[in-house]
Amino acid sequence: MADLPGISLGCDYNFEQWSPSVWAEDVALMRQAGVDLVAVNIFGWSSIEPRPGEYDFGTLDSIIGLLHDNGIRVNLGTGTSSPPPWLTTLHPEILPEAADGTTRSPGGRQAWCPSSPVFRERALALVEQVAIRYGDHPAVALWHVSNELGCHNALCYDEASAGAFRAWLLRRYGSIDALNKAWGTSFWSQRYSDWAEILPPRLALSLRNPGQLVDFQRFSSDELLGHYRAEAEVLRRHTTAPVTTNFMVTAHIRALDYWSWAPEMDVIANDHYLDNRLGDPDAELSFAADLTRGLAGGRPWMLMEQSTGAVNWQPYNLAKVPGQMLRNSLTHVARGADSICFFQWRASAQGAEKFHSALVPHAGTDTVGWREVLELSSTLDALAEVAGTTVRADIAILFSWESWWATDTEARPSQDVRYLDQVHAAYRAARRLGVTADVVAPGTDLSGYRLAIVPCLHMVSDEDAALINDYVAGGGHAVVTFYSGIVDVADRVRLGGYPGAFREMLGVVAEEFFPLPPGRRVTLAGGATATLWTEHLRATTAEIVDSYADGPLPGVPAVTRNSYGEGTSWYVATALDDDDLRDLLRAATRAAGIRGTGPESDGSVEVVRRAGADRSYLFVINHGKQDIAHPVTGHDLITGEAVPGMLKVGAGSVRVIREEPVA
Ligand code: GAL
Repeated sequence: MADLPGISLGCDYNFEQWSPSVWAEDVALMRQAGVDLVAVNIFGWSSIEPRPGEYDFGTLDSIIGLLHDNGIRVNLGTGTSSPPPWLTTLHPEILPEAADGTTRSPGGRQAWCPSSPVFRERALALVEQVAIRYGDHPAVALWHVSNELGCHNALCYDEASAGAFRAWLLRRYGSIDALNKAWGTSFWSQRYSDWAEILPPRLALSLRNPGQLVDFQRFSSDELLGHYRAEAEVLRRHTTAPVTTNFMVTAHIRALDYWSWAPEMDVIANDHYLDNRLGDPDAELSFAADLTRGLAGGRPWMLMEQSTGAVNWQPYNLAKVPGQMLRNSLTHVARGADSICFFQWRASAQGAEKFHSALVPHAGTDTVGWREVLELSSTLDALAEVAGTTVRADIAILFSWESWWATDTEARPSQDVRYLDQVHAAYRAARRLGVTADVVAPGTDLSGYRLAIVPCLHMVSDEDAALINDYVAGGGHAVVTFYSGIVDVADRVRLGGYPGAFREMLGVVAEEFFPLPPGRRVTLAGGATATLWTEHLRATTAEIVDSYADGPLPGVPAVTRNSYGEGTSWYVATALDDDDLRDLLRAATRAAGIRGTGPESDGSVEVVRRAGADRSYLFVINHGKQDIAHPVTGHDLITGEAVPGMLKVGAGSVRVIREEPVA
């Protein structure tokens, strides 16, 4: 982690948008708000290199100096996230190309092709200058490479990308024969005779090759990681401060396989915005936080960006109601964040983000928003002793970006089977049961968990499937949901019946998928209801827990349970409605001997524990409209009061209790 004590508070500061008189006021307000860490130079390129090779660090020097003089640490951007107009004018070939072959113009941000050698050279030249100038500056607590790499430009289809894709494929497959085999190119006369014939999967007249599509996703993720690595290498020649970049573990960005990125970060940092387009934004926030903790290997992490209120990029940009920002922030802390930062400090008066909320709103400091910022700051101060503790979980939910790519592709059994929906459904069910889950990569050693949930793990390698199967054989419990284990890493169907990779472990075999059209709901004999998916399943060694009462497959098993080796595995062959999936998970968690940290609820109550060797803290978060009571004994860090056995948590509030005795 960056060397910052306690639970730090931070923000992006786009000082370039303001005059020096505002900087002075801002830094005074930052002190009032107890801001510890300020990100600068995120979009600085056109200011610090106004003309090619001409560097002007005067303003950045002043700002960093001002922050330093006021005891505020700096999260220093390399400044390369958006090329300045002179660069795209001089070198239009760096602009990204979309799948339809059209070039994307500058005028927004991130208008660069990840494989452009010219962009890379210019960006690294800038990084070198920034690193030389500030590499040992005492204010710099952290280096922030670029910004949200791949937010807009992850998939680029131009000639530079085509060349880099071929080189990547050569490294992966070694020979054109191996590539032809992996992509199954005997189909539709797609056999390649030479590397030069291979293109990025640009839009075609018909469905594209799915193996090529998934490899292009892998390549594109690696390509941007390569960019991160190149900038980080330059930085490390001039600094010993930690280096990171801000991830986007969120519902609408799926291009980067952060499991491969995480080991290269000195600290894991995530940007998370509440997504009001989703059915349950609070549950998604908790999921993203748990996944970020997974990326951090269970260690504390940073929330690098969130908003105090509305964003500017959803169709309807909802403001946060009083208390919601504090609740969002403490949910991240409960799930392992040791630093809470915001985009951005002062709301812009101009530009595309002028209606995005900020710590200092347009209306100034005599506002509810500002008072909430001060409240958050004092709350984080009160939680200082929580820093460094970790979250323990009995459940692992397996999450895979590769499965996301392979599931949400072209030409699938149902366009409504979306990977993240299925993962979220499983996560929501666990959360409603009051149990804490780690979100981990397939391939993780599961032996420390009582239960593994494997939602829609469509693409899985032989090794990762074997790990899951061995885990169950060794006494573990697993719940696997439909469309899992279907293809290998080349997107090749595992033959012999679905769900190929897990057939034996689950004790079932399915011969055909029967997806349901929109609006269609099936009923199971036990009364549960489901949508989206059914399949012609037969139990081989499994016992049948429930079968369809209607729909296309009456009498066919829908939920099964199997004894496999020393363990137990459940298969859910349909998309159970939320309450029914929760009931099934309740049975599975009980069978696995798991007790919730919190009560069962409709998701409006979250109880999460962070613990160290000699201390433990219970976070009780009440998203609901009713006051609740939760049994716990200890000391309330926020109110300073003793909690003698029963804690009252008002509607919309959060309490954090140092438990006595330690749990
Ligand atoms: C992020 C980005 C920030 C800001 C923010 C707005 O994607 O890193 O610079 O644009 O979104 O929500």
